[in-house]
Amino acid sequence: MSRPDLSASEYELWRDLVAQRCGLYFTPSRKHFLQARLWERMQQRQIKQYSDYYHFVLYNPQGKREWGQLLDLLLNNESSFFRHAPSYKALQRHVLPALMQAKRRQKMNHLAIWSAGCANGQEAYSLAMAFHEVAGPDETWLWQVKVWGSDISRQSLRKARNGRYRPCDVRTMPAPLRRNYMTVGGNGRDAYYDVAEPVKRLVQFTELNLTNPDSYWLTAQDVIFCQNVLIYFQAAQRIEIVEQLCQCLSPGGYLFLAPAEVVGFNYPGIKPVRLEESLVYQRVE
Ligand SMILES: C[S@@+](CC[C@H](N)C(=O)[O-])C[C@H]1O[C@@H](n2cnc3c(N)ncnc32)[C@H](O)[C@@H]1O
Repeated sequence: MSRPDLSASEYELWRDLVAQRCGLYFTPSRKHFLQARLWERMQQRQIKQYSDYYHFVLYNPQGKREWGQLLDLLLNNESSFFRHAPSYKALQRHVLPALMQAKRRQKMNHLAIWSAGCANGQEAYSLAMAFHEVAGPDETWLWQVKVWGSDISRQSLRKARNGRYRPCDVRTMPAPLRRNYMTVGGNGRDAYYDVAEPVKRLVQFTELNLTNPDSYWLTAQDVIFCQNVLIYFQAAQRIEIVEQLCQCLSPGGYLFLAPAEVVGFNYPGIKPVRLEESLVYQRVE
């Protein structure tokens, strides 16, 4: 059966449902993508009308599970290790050393780091590797570090927990980091890279929907990365999420967004700081 067209009213229904549930906003230019993904799931379910599928997702007892499957098709979970190099430079040269120094002065040894929208885990593991790089072998063991990776996609979280990547996934990683923090397995076309145990042990993954204000339980974070997540959201929602994230920072903590993802952000107690070629936000009170 050929794919029927998504009418204007059906498109609006789906666009609003998706935006309300997960923040993704399908502009008219992405209508075709939305339609193709809906149709893919409808064929699996043998449903012929977009409106019937809408009712299935909303009211059928299996609707919740179906929504998860559809969501995995709609989300873009593209990621890479040390993706935005200037952010990691700022983190390793300025942010972590300053935070660790301040903690030492207060006789504290814990660090809380959060990758919000962690996709398949590359960002969370990169943050744990960055900590190892800064602390070095003499100091790593002195610190209690917890890196949380959170995402709305269960499929991504499964891959993240697995911590196994294809050679093409680690290609952009600086070679010394790859040598130190990944172990190689398999041969030729079956080769794979596993995140090394000392890094993996610092990281834990959890399901969390950033558009649900009740789900922000990760408080008192020293560092939050939320990069390349908000780009598909509407401007007002981006600001709401960034404000929620700011409230999850501990005093002195830093928020890293991707460049130009949120423009003109201004929130009490939060100071923009330029570090290296990165703009980060610090909670100052
Ligand atoms: C393009 S990836 C970015 C991954 C990583 N932060 C990076 O910069 O490489 C975007 C991720 O955001 C997640 N995401 C989208 N909407 C979300 C929401 N409402 N709550 C939590 N995660 C969400 C997606 O599932 C996806 O894994």
